Amino acid sequence: MNVQQSITMLPTGEAAKLRGKGPLPSQPYHDPAWWELERKAIFMRNWIHVGHVCEIPEPGSFIRREIEFARASLLIVRGRDGEVRTFHNVCTHRGTQLVEEAGGRRSQFSCPYHMWTFGADGRLLSAPDFERFHVGKDACALRQVRTEVLAGLIFINFDPEPRQSVRAFFGPIADEMERLPSASAVDFTEWTYEIPANWKTNFDNFQENYHLRFIHPRTGAQTIGEENPFGYPTHYGFSGPHRSQTLWRNPDPPEMGPTLMLGYGLAAAQAQHDGLNFPKTDFKLFPAFHIVSLPPGQQFSHTHYPLGPDRTRGVVRLYWTKKPDSASRLFAQEMGAMSIRDVLSEDRFAVQSGQRGLNSGAVEQVRFQDHEMLLRHLYETVQEQVADYLAEQEAAE
Ligand code: FES
Ligand SMILES: [Fe+2]
Repeated sequence: MNVQQSITMLPTGEAAKLRGKGPLPSQPYHDPAWWELERKAIFMRNWIHVGHVCEIPEPGSFIRREIEFARASLLIVRGRDGEVRTFHNVCTHRGTQLVEEAGGRRSQFSCPYHMWTFGADGRLLSAPDFERFHVGKDACALRQVRTEVLAGLIFINFDPEPRQSVRAFFGPIADEMERLPSASAVDFTEWTYEIPANWKTNFDNFQENYHLRFIHPRTGAQTIGEENPFGYPTHYGFSGPHRSQTLWRNPDPPEMGPTLMLGYGLAAAQAQHDGLNFPKTDFKLFPAFHIVSLPPGQQFSHTHYPLGPDRTRGVVRLYWTKKPDSASRLFAQEMGAMSIRDVLSEDRFAVQSGQRGLNSGAVEQVRFQDHEMLLRHLYETVQEQVADYLAEQEAAE
């Protein structure tokens, strides 16, 4: 997999000429066998976003993450040396899970079964009657998962020898990510949801604006308008397996309700006061993570964790560079989060209905128009990575 070391930003008309035009088989959106291939070829060996450093601020701080596609429970821990490490939440004696809490702070992790005790660096510190095991403690350290931090965001890779660092994986987008407010976040608002839809069906919904005027006639009014009724973005960007789009902004949006206007106004004023800069471009990062900026005062990230061929968990986060220290800041943050939640709840019906249709097998092909080119790019990238994986498997036989 080669990551281009540049972002090709193109006006949308130019970008349309570069991509294919034909229909594509719908099978990758619903077929369990294809899903299993994606699991191994993509999710088990790409960098996956799992959290933010503000969740583990101090030595011994930890979070637990259940990663269903890997059948893994993970402990993400900040060590005494400040390093962020990820371990399987699995005792190396006979497999018992060490931690049930979602997170907390501990200097060591003791297994409840026979009291093997591990340090925040994963080493086995003590184990009752250990002499009778005929093994050294070094061999019993917690099993580690590769972890790297970029722009405050924690990424893991289940491949013990990832093909590239997280910075190389994101290429020039890494620099853009470091300029985002989330890079210096100290807090966030999060909600999660499960949806009966393939991860691509769900992600695709957030990669096209074609549906805005039908599904979000009111809440999408900032990015569609009389002169751009389908909300064509002004630019598309492509960088290796990643994509971006720069949304068109309606110069004359319809008036919002007074509460929403107050919330947006406060968020904008606070962003200016805090010296935050929200870019106009949002990033659709491989495999299933996107960061959307809503200037002047908002940004959210959205990660799609596949749970099965037609089930996905979405995690949405709005990152804050300050904890709410006033009623107006708290109000602006909550309004921001709730307004995004409103938009996403409008999408839900369309996404799950689309998946039910795809599952039926009634349409053998899906059709992408020019302004669904980000969907086509994701589709093609998935195909390439699965083909690479199969070729490697064949070569290894
Ligand atoms: S399984 Fe953990 S100490 Fe025995
Ligand atoms: Fe939508």
